[in-house]
Amino acid sequence: MSLQQKVYLITPIAQNRHFMSRIIIALLLFISSTAVAQKPSYKEQHRPQYHFSPPSKWMNDPNGMVFYKGEYHLFYQYYPDSTVWGPMHWGHAVSKDMLHWQHLPIALYPDSLGLIFSGSVVVDKNNTSGLKKGAEQPLVALYTYHDLKKEKAGKEMDFQYQGMAYSLDKGRNWTKYAGNPVIKNNGVKDFRDPKVIWHEASKHWVMVLAVADRIDFYRSENLKEWSFSSSFGKDEGSHGGVWECPDLVEMTVEGTNNKKWVLIVSIGNGGPNGGSATQYFTGDFDGRNFVNSNSKETMHWLDHGPDNYAGVTWSNTGNQKLFLGWMSNWNYAQVVPTRSWRSAMTIPRTLYLKNAAGGYRLYSKPVRNLETLRQQQHTLSVTKPTLTNGLNELILSFDLSRAAATDFGISFTNEENELLKVGFNKEQNQFYIDRSKAGDNSFSKLFTGSAVAPRLLSSNIVKLHVFIDHSSIEVFGDDGSVVLTSLFFPKQPLKSVQLFSDKEGLSLQQAVLYQLKSTW
Ligand code: FRU
Repeated sequence: MSLQQKVYLITPIAQNRHFMSRIIIALLLFISSTAVAQKPSYKEQHRPQYHFSPPSKWMNDPNGMVFYKGEYHLFYQYYPDSTVWGPMHWGHAVSKDMLHWQHLPIALYPDSLGLIFSGSVVVDKNNTSGLKKGAEQPLVALYTYHDLKKEKAGKEMDFQYQGMAYSLDKGRNWTKYAGNPVIKNNGVKDFRDPKVIWHEASKHWVMVLAVADRIDFYRSENLKEWSFSSSFGKDEGSHGGVWECPDLVEMTVEGTNNKKWVLIVSIGNGGPNGGSATQYFTGDFDGRNFVNSNSKETMHWLDHGPDNYAGVTWSNTGNQKLFLGWMSNWNYAQVVPTRSWRSAMTIPRTLYLKNAAGGYRLYSKPVRNLETLRQQQHTLSVTKPTLTNGLNELILSFDLSRAAATDFGISFTNEENELLKVGFNKEQNQFYIDRSKAGDNSFSKLFTGSAVAPRLLSSNIVKLHVFIDHSSIEVFGDDGSVVLTSLFFPKQPLKSVQLFSDKEGLSLQQAVLYQLKSTW
């Protein structure tokens, strides 16, 4: 039924014109709000223009990221009834390039076993599960059930356990496994977020599970029956908060034939710049046990900024390790000033492992596909601002050996005089983002003003690769050896871009800005 038809239908019952016009206005408002819910405009204030965000309502962790037959699948923790966290579903979208997304119907709904918390999806190429029926390989999801009633009753602690679902039609329809749960809980309150990988050397599936303050490893031949292998991490790395959303990735050390394993672990609190953050361990894994190559006290952060959490890698992408995280922080995610939706994902990133600064380090770089969004190119200047569309990629390098400047970088402003700065401080030897004047920060005291990250490398050339969208900035320092991701909420997009320096004599090697186009 068209909009005119809907409005017409009510006219005969309205006697009074005033009353009638009120009804019509109410109806029009109703129709337009449902239209927004069905087809988001992506034009709302703060709405990211080339990052993934849900059509409407609440989103947190990326889930079930898997590549199958030319499509990158992104599932996500989704509450379709509100803009704050609530009973979790798996929202779903697909993309051919990780940038242009097509929203699909919700993939997994809560059921009698509980809400659907985070988890992963694998392609069961060899049909180890025996679930295959037609031409498509089974896509198998392993996720956490959270029994809310049991949690609320407060008597038993075993309210999280692992479930399985599968799709035989390229992820379009999902069936919950009749034998759920596939892993029961023996009384641990936090027991969740299974990430499953195929361990080629032992020809087994391996599951990494976050269990309060440690990671448990399980193995399976058929994705349905799992046996416990070992635990890692109780007294290793950072323990500022509960451990969540792990990932285990085998990587070739750049420039060598050596392979190492990287264990990614998100922690709910105690990140380097406050709140939730993601750490990683490097080491060896034989299919059962993970052995850390560093001392127990060593802490490495995948991203030092406050707004990259619960990120994991896509499954089934061969040697390429593609990562994406939830671009928010549990400290304030539910109160940020966005209206019809809450939260976006980071840009997709390629992970590399390098032997640098005396150990193995995880580097992140923006995926190459992002280059397809580039439009006009500008050269940045210290003396006058460059006016842009507010969606920018910047590539800069500074020569420290020839510069008098000790504190320099890029500032982003608007007509409201709101100001965001990203820079490098030579004396403190650190990169930073300062969002203290970049817009609304009244919604939470925990929305801190600036984030810093120590430099890892010591060459004379300092490099910055920056992506800015309407409400986020992602900074890749020195080829991605140091990363900072941060949100901000200006009244208007920060369209005016200029270099700054505390002293004259900023020795620039490169200062390029690209305006990017929206993907929505
Ligand atoms: C991480 C997390 C997960 C959990 C999910 C619930 O952000 O707490 O551990 O599965 O969110 O939505």
